[in-house]
Amino acid sequence: MVRIAIFASGNGSNAENIINYFKDSSAIKCELIISNKENAYVLERASKHKISARHVSGKEFRENPKKVSDLLVQHNIDFIVLAGFMLLLPEKIIRNYPDRIVNIHPALLPSYGGKGMYGMNVHRAVINAGETQSGISIHYVNEKYDEGRIIFQAACPVDKNDTPDTLAEKIHHLEYKHYPAVIEQIIHENILK
Ligand code: GRF
Repeated sequence: MVRIAIFASGNGSNAENIINYFKDSSAIKCELIISNKENAYVLERASKHKISARHVSGKEFRENPKKVSDLLVQHNIDFIVLAGFMLLLPEKIIRNYPDRIVNIHPALLPSYGGKGMYGMNVHRAVINAGETQSGISIHYVNEKYDEGRIIFQAACPVDKNDTPDTLAEKIHHLEYKHYPAVIEQIIHENILK
């Protein structure tokens, strides 16, 4: 059984979609949810699905990365999924999970990535630049924001009357459709091979 930990900072709709996707799998299990925000809605979603959920503050991530890596060891975590997670991961964790940490970014990287490019900031920037398409990028995670090797991208049109909210909705649909399946494929290629 491959055990996944999902790291999320906020709402967690992707996290819940991934939980639902794997709930009947005999090969892959969502084992642990970690959030750096104490009141993040993703923690409620985890308890609804009876999945262990832990809050680890940003300060602890920075000053005591052992706390997170110990949690991962305790839960026998094999693979890490970032889904709306706002912090850089401690280097120790990145080193311990080579090609076993993925993130999803709500734009077509390498454009509209990097520090400060998250959530609505991304969709606003895409619309303000007059882009005619945007999309999602699923990539491996390294020590820089949004710079790990790209695994998968899917695009959608940006229409003249799109607002950051309507674009976010289109992007979420792409995320729900593709992220769990890409995670499954990567786990099969890198771990269950
Ligand atoms: C998603 O758009 C994801 O691409 C980005 O943050 C958003 C998280 O949304 N990294 P949710 O918390 O999964 O609803």
